[in-house]
Amino acid sequence: MNINQTVVLITGGGSGIGAATARHLAQLGARVALIDRNSEAVSTVAKEINGLGLVADVTDEAQVANAIARLQVELGPLRIAINCAGIAPAKRILGKAGVMPLSDFQHVLQVNVIGTFNVLRLAAEAMATAEPLDNDGNRGVIINTASIAAYEGQIGQTAYSASKAAIVGLTLPAARDLAAVGIRVMTIAPGLMATPLMQAFPKEVQDSLAASVNFPKRLGNPDEFALLAAHIIDNDYLNGEVIRLDGALRMREK
Ligand SMILES: NC(=O)c1ccc[n+]([C@@H]2O[C@H](COP(=O)([O-])OP(=O)(O)OC[C@H]3O[C@@H](n4cnc5c(N)ncnc54)[C@H](O)[C@@H]3O)[C@@H](O)[C@H]2O)c1
Repeated sequence: MNINQTVVLITGGGSGIGAATARHLAQLGARVALIDRNSEAVSTVAKEINGLGLVADVTDEAQVANAIARLQVELGPLRIAINCAGIAPAKRILGKAGVMPLSDFQHVLQVNVIGTFNVLRLAAEAMATAEPLDNDGNRGVIINTASIAAYEGQIGQTAYSASKAAIVGLTLPAARDLAAVGIRVMTIAPGLMATPLMQAFPKEVQDSLAASVNFPKRLGNPDEFALLAAHIIDNDYLNGEVIRLDGALRMREK
């Protein structure tokens, strides 16, 4: 699918991977709308790329539906949706403060799984009403963000790993569901990326994490996620698959 002049929605666009992807796609000529629950962050990035910043919580049906309706009025038919909003709190099942509250587990699944699916389904609904773009019948593409923690979760990551494994698991059936309307579904599973989330760690921690990557021996750059997202958009034969973006890192038990 051609990126130039195409309408893209990026969730979590106020920070890290989502913001880097927004900048890259805007440079390639996309018309970018961002959703984030952080109003200051989303308006800063939107202003910078001359895009549309929308404040919404991805888990809220009405807020996401309203945001998609508004972006379609202001920018045109939605063709590309990229789910980057997510949270990654860590807590052991049995920690120093006692057993993990069930609500902690539920909250991570609510944001990462329900939020991703909520945007996926409403974006698909919008895309399905647009005309096909070519003889193959392409109408749109949806890209989700999992994590290598879906496969090799660390101590304290039961909730996060379960949420990312759910995103891996829904990728193929979502692609099969939406094939009838010409919408592709792909997922990127990043390794350790240098985002504000990671950069908040002390330098020694960042260095030690980087040392566990095979090659290149460094944290991933959010721009490298953006490059892969752009390729997925471009390459119509990619569908129903999860791609690891991790410098061959396979996380071991710490
Ligand atoms: N940074 C990494 O190393 C890494 C590795 C693997 C996967 N990921 C995944 O990549 C995605 C982006 O991570 P990041 O590192 O850029 O994080 P980040 O914290 O820099 O950005 C996440 C953004 O999502 C927004 N957000 C969170 N919950 C939301 C909600 N309910 N509704 C709307 N917006 C919400 C936040 O406000 C924030 O702007 C996440 O899904 C994360 O799990 C990150």
